[in-house]
Amino acid sequence: MENNLNWLHFTEINSTNTYLKENVRDLPDKTVVTADLQTAGRGRLGNIWEADNNMLPVSILLKSRNNAVSLTIMTAISVCRAIEKVCDIPAQIKWTNDIICENHKVCGILCESIIKGAQIDVVCGIGVNVNQPTDFFERNSLPNAASLFEITGSRLDKKQLAQEIINQLLSLLDDDFENVRCEYEKRCITLNKQVKLIINGEEKIAYAKAIGKNGSLVCIDDNGEFEVVAGEVKVRGLNNEYL
Ligand code: BTN
Repeated sequence: MENNLNWLHFTEINSTNTYLKENVRDLPDKTVVTADLQTAGRGRLGNIWEADNNMLPVSILLKSRNNAVSLTIMTAISVCRAIEKVCDIPAQIKWTNDIICENHKVCGILCESIIKGAQIDVVCGIGVNVNQPTDFFERNSLPNAASLFEITGSRLDKKQLAQEIINQLLSLLDDDFENVRCEYEKRCITLNKQVKLIINGEEKIAYAKAIGKNGSLVCIDDNGEFEVVAGEVKVRGLNNEYL
C-alpha cells in the first residue's frame, strides 16, 4: 500500500502488536498492521486496552533498532503531529506516552522490544480513540479518556489518521534525537510541576523538571535530583489528578 510499506489490514485481529511479534521472522522492516476491530488489545503495565470498531489500532515493526525508548518518544510526537494536522486541535503528552487533547487521553502507546541475539526489533503499537461515543468510556469506566470525535464533533477517517501517524514517524526516524527530545519537552504536560510518583506502591512527591537524554523523567526533591524510568512508575497530580 502507501509509501511502498508492507501494510496489512485486517477486519478483525486479536492485537496488532501481538501479530507483529508472532510473525516477526517472516515480515520485513516497517511492516504496518491496522484493523477495523481489535479484540484483545494490550496496554502498558499488563492492562487491557478496551476497544470497539471506532478505535484505531496501528502497529509498526522497526527492525534492528538499538533504542526502544527513543522510539516511544518519537511515536508520541508522531501521534501529536498527526492529530494536529488531521483534526486541527492541540495535542500534548503525559509522560511517558499518553496523548492528551483537552485534558483527556485520546491515545495510548505500547512499544515492545523483541531481542534475538544482538538484534533488537521493536514493535510500536498505537491505539487512538477516534470515533467512540461518550457512553463507550462510561461503560468501560475510563473517566480520563475521550475520543477525537467527542472533542471535535466530527467523525474521522481512521485510515487517513493511521497514514499520517506512520508518515510522521518515518520522517522522525532520521531526525536528530535531541530535536525530538526538545519537542517532547515542549509538549509534555507532566513537566514544571509538583507531582506524585507512585513507585512499587510507594508514593513520593517531587518536582518534575525535564526529560532526560534516555527519555527518563528528571525530578527534584529535598534530597536532590533523580531520574525515574517508564515501566516502574506511575505519575499523578498532588490530588491524584491525571497529569
Ligand atoms: C496504554 O496502556 O496506554 C497503551 C495502549 C496501547 C494500545 C495499542 S492498540 C494497537 C496496539 N496493539 C495492542 O495490543 N496494543 C497497542
